[in-house]
Amino acid sequence: MQPRHFLTLDDCTPEELLGILRRASELRRLHADGAVHTPLTGRVLGMIFEKSSTRTRVSFEAGMAQLGGSALFLSPRDTQLGRGEPIEDTARVISRMVDAVMIRTSSHDTVTRFADHSRVPVINGLTDDAHPCQLLADLQTYFEHRGDIRGRTVAWLGDGNNMCLSYMRAARLFDFRLRIAAPEGYAPDPSLVDGDRISLTTDPAAAVTGADLVVTDVWASMGFEAEQQERIAAFRPYQVDAGLMAQAAEDALFMHCLPAHRGEEVTAEVLEGAQSVVWDEAENRLHAQKALLELLLLKE
Ligand code: CP
Ligand code: NVA
Repeated sequence: MQPRHFLTLDDCTPEELLGILRRASELRRLHADGAVHTPLTGRVLGMIFEKSSTRTRVSFEAGMAQLGGSALFLSPRDTQLGRGEPIEDTARVISRMVDAVMIRTSSHDTVTRFADHSRVPVINGLTDDAHPCQLLADLQTYFEHRGDIRGRTVAWLGDGNNMCLSYMRAARLFDFRLRIAAPEGYAPDPSLVDGDRISLTTDPAAAVTGADLVVTDVWASMGFEAEQQERIAAFRPYQVDAGLMAQAAEDALFMHCLPAHRGEEVTAEVLEGAQSVVWDEAENRLHAQKALLELLLLKE
């Protein structure tokens, strides 16, 4: 039987995604109550990190331990991947030894090729095209603070990067409006823009006006550091500051997947302000991924 993968949000139905979010909030409550819940006893998650991480690594590792299993941190520096062993061979070998694999890498194709040769579920822990685990946490956070996101308006400010592309998928699956404000040359591929729900503009104020959720991310993602200086110049008008937040709905939330660069894509005032839910958002990586692991490893 083919294993169940989670490479983008589209690997789940909207009902399954809603089920993950519900379960994630339940797991958050159980964890806060100190409950012991170990359905993954003896199971092992292999984690391949070709890029840096704090949240993704800690949340998957802690999550597996809390569910009774364990996680292995694998970096190309100390595995044969770094010495050129093909991803397909690595997938065939590792997936005979562990119960699931999480990969963080640049090319989405690498994750797809790994999944095609894996006997066990593969989870995308971030590629240049998608960051689906982060979206689970973001949506869980929105539901916990404000209820259903269906019919709401989300403003994305800045780079048309992996997070933006995942928000575009989420808009379709969760049925919310997404307004993307990006400078020319940095917007996502317009052919991916769904006319009904997703709109593109270069005007940050137009995107945030009346929005229920304002989201941004770094201006230079991992792998794009060499463009940092030219990007700072292009993105400056897209900084989320108090003035911009004041144009959103009165009860609008602010999110950022972190790490954040205060004074670049967001001011310290907004990041630390009353509308910011970034710390809950970060914590929810733990609970959302535990719910995902339950779905991938325990459900028939
Ligand atoms: N948001 C996120 O994925 O953080 P890390 O890069 O620290 O894993
Ligand atoms: N867009 C960022 C997200 C980091 C979690 C990056 O890819 O570096």
